[in-house]
Amino acid sequence: MATTPASANVMEALVSLCQRRGFIFPSSDIYGGLNGFFDYGPLGVEMKNNIKAARWRDFVQRRADMVGLDSSIIHHPATWKASGHVDNFTDPLVDCKVSKQRFRADQLFFAAVVVEPEDGAPAGAERQTIGYVSALESARTDAELQEKALEMKRKKAVRGKLLALEVRDMTAAKPEEIALIPSPATGEPGSLTPPRSFNMMFQTYIGALRDETAIAYLRPETAQGIFINFKNVIDTGRVKIPFGIAQVGKAFRNEINPRNFTFRSREFEQMEIEYFIDPEADWQKCHRDWIDDALAWLDSVGVPRAMLSEYAHPKEKLSHYSKGTVDIMFKFPFGVQELWGFAARGAFDLTQHQKASGKSMEYFDEATKRKFVPHVVEPSVGVARIFLAALSAGYAEDEAPDDKGKLEKRVVLRLSPRLAPVKVAVLPLVKNKPELVAAADQLHAKLKRKHVVFYDQSGAIGRRYRRQDEIGTPWCVTVDFDTLANGTFTLRDRDSMKQERIDEKALFALLDEKLG
Ligand code: GAP
Repeated sequence: MATTPASANVMEALVSLCQRRGFIFPSSDIYGGLNGFFDYGPLGVEMKNNIKAARWRDFVQRRADMVGLDSSIIHHPATWKASGHVDNFTDPLVDCKVSKQRFRADQLFFAAVVVEPEDGAPAGAERQTIGYVSALESARTDAELQEKALEMKRKKAVRGKLLALEVRDMTAAKPEEIALIPSPATGEPGSLTPPRSFNMMFQTYIGALRDETAIAYLRPETAQGIFINFKNVIDTGRVKIPFGIAQVGKAFRNEINPRNFTFRSREFEQMEIEYFIDPEADWQKCHRDWIDDALAWLDSVGVPRAMLSEYAHPKEKLSHYSKGTVDIMFKFPFGVQELWGFAARGAFDLTQHQKASGKSMEYFDEATKRKFVPHVVEPSVGVARIFLAALSAGYAEDEAPDDKGKLEKRVVLRLSPRLAPVKVAVLPLVKNKPELVAAADQLHAKLKRKHVVFYDQSGAIGRRYRRQDEIGTPWCVTVDFDTLANGTFTLRDRDSMKQERIDEKALFALLDEKLG
């Protein structure tokens, strides 16, 4: 029976599997790693490319209302002034003066520990605050705060009833509370600074000069590259509103607290779409359609609906230009977190660039003879988040028979065939029969013209199946003595472990159907 190990163990198992089998390595590993940066190994790069290709195929090439773009990573710095990133792309930062560690204020939670007198306490006994507890954001934040509060009450030998904790994050701390809140690094109060704004853009210089005039930024999102090319794209004459421009590429953010493996990295790839609509069109329907399409697509690539939910940002927390933002959330092993964001951004970005550049961003609608600056709905997702979601959803441990029929533990990645880094493994039953090896070589050569195929002739067949299961290869094809007799192979399915005979034509047809 397939089992899913406890969440913390899934994460540990995935990180180890990713490193061991060449999916993801810490960046600059030989120098001890670089926090927030990752390198994708031979299997990782295949899977990452598959994610990008599947999404491009389904959301760009298969639609009549989408075109693509690949803008430069470094834009004119005026782009980021106009978009608001120079002034507002900040996170609230809290320093611990003792440990020198830095925390994102909205990820550092605290609560006052308040104790109420018990029934029968002496007259005049009052409710008292006996201290503060703190914890960083995690799937256990509330539980950790509660444990710390009970421990504080026990250590201080305070009698009475502990009141329910009112948990807030540091952005909501009152000035007089800051000195009382313990640092998560030291466990002691007195070392945390009040939150201050920290701009997350990576800065660089263009040319030989290193002064203010040469400052440029590594893009923190791919979206602005789309907005500043809006005019170029509509001037090519191929598009009519409503239409969208898609872009995939690197984005860089100097995250204060990169964490949860690749979930929050400092360098990552985004897949963004800016979908331009008539300001009078029904933006809510367009927004909803994109969310529904994304939910269905995720399900189709092995990120199941049951692990997805939606989070609508509360109206009072929306940016001033946003009409509505909904995130698709995924149940990662470390908690339910944002996977894919959908913002209705109105005409904000195009209007800002129109003002700053002096170039018109208006669109002339032939049908209605009206000129307008289009509004935009923006679906935006990180490749690494889909990667991690697919790995988390697909990871399972079950049992499979070894070569002697004895059940042994099996680790399996039930990845969708479209995302799996290797599609088929070709395995000659034994390596010391030249006719079998020749037939396997032949099949391997034919398959690899079209697909990523792995050839493995070393070890017992059961062991070889297991190696493929662990990296998510959907099918193994064994070349055996029947192959020599009648040209059929044993096709073994990763998930059901069922085996059936298949000929070459049917094998190619199966791959075309499942990978198309
Ligand atoms: N243009 C809008 C935008 O960039 P965002 O919510 O900041 O919005 C969009 O990012 C998506 O990019 C997120 O939903 C997430 O999938 C991904 N993303 C954002 N920051 C990330 C990070 N530090 N590491 C990995 N992925 C990230």
